[in-house]
Amino acid sequence: MNTFGASLPSGPDDAVGHETAPPDLPEFYAPLLREGPLVVAQLGQSLDGFIASRTGDAEFVTGPEDRRHLHVLRSLVDAVVVGAATAVVDDCRLTVRDAPRRGAPPVRVVLDPRGILTRDARLLTEPDAPTLWFVADDSEIGAAPPTDLAPHVELAAHPEAHLREPDSLVAILAERGFTRVLVEGGGRLVSACLAAGVLDRLYVTSAPVLIGDGIPGLRFTGHDVLAHALRPPSRRLVLGDDVCTELRLRD
Ligand SMILES: NC(=O)c1ccc[n+]([C@@H]2O[C@H](COP(=O)([O-])OP(=O)(O)OC[C@H]3O[C@@H](n4cnc5c(N)ncnc54)[C@H](OP(=O)(O)O)[C@@H]3O)[C@@H](O)[C@H]2O)c1
Repeated sequence: MNTFGASLPSGPDDAVGHETAPPDLPEFYAPLLREGPLVVAQLGQSLDGFIASRTGDAEFVTGPEDRRHLHVLRSLVDAVVVGAATAVVDDCRLTVRDAPRRGAPPVRVVLDPRGILTRDARLLTEPDAPTLWFVADDSEIGAAPPTDLAPHVELAAHPEAHLREPDSLVAILAERGFTRVLVEGGGRLVSACLAAGVLDRLYVTSAPVLIGDGIPGLRFTGHDVLAHALRPPSRRLVLGDDVCTELRLRD
């Protein structure tokens, strides 16, 4: 056990290229400490594969140890990205509150092609970290950007196709200097990033709960033949009652 209350997995050690690993950071996160660009995603889901109830209630699918894991992931990146549906339903803050902070807080990115985020959303009103609000340039808000946004918020309008194409999204973020990215949810956005092949690592935490008829987690066009299914190298981390599986999608 370590200070995360987590059991470390067995598996190959990854080289730690970072000089200043936080002292209580488990070996599990070593791959994320390497210098250089990195795109990771996470989902916390029920055993039957749902990330929220059918009403969108996702509080809380997984337990406190997994939430701490999520905050560690946030602490290791430049940008945390969510789909607009998640930002609207969860009214999330996307800050690092439950893990050691490492430098500046990650910028909070909302991918909102249609401009559905409401102006009272915490991401737009609470200045704990910068917020980057991506909308389509031909959406109502993209065509007529408001002039009274809070100073921590930047509205950026792009062609819708660029926002919906994960490769383009990663490139747009990299142009701004955000090369280490966490795609935090929800299921549609993480699935699109997985299908587009932009993820280096995917962390899926399964909780011993059955939601049934909820909002699905990963959905993508698979193969007819199971032998061709995506079965990347993996490691596991026991997080309280939950099990986090790390899929190594790229070296
Ligand atoms: N358990 C967890 O780990 C977890 C994490 C995050 C969220 N959640 C829950 O997940 C639910 C929302 O998830 P969701 O799957 O419905 O939506 P989502 O992935 O949060 O949102 C998709 C949003 O991203 C936009 N988008 C832009 N590019 C996209 C692309 N390439 N593919 C898909 N969407 C793209 C969509 O726009 P359009 O609508 O215009 O297509 C939509 O606004 C909420 O209930 C939230 O509580 C759970």
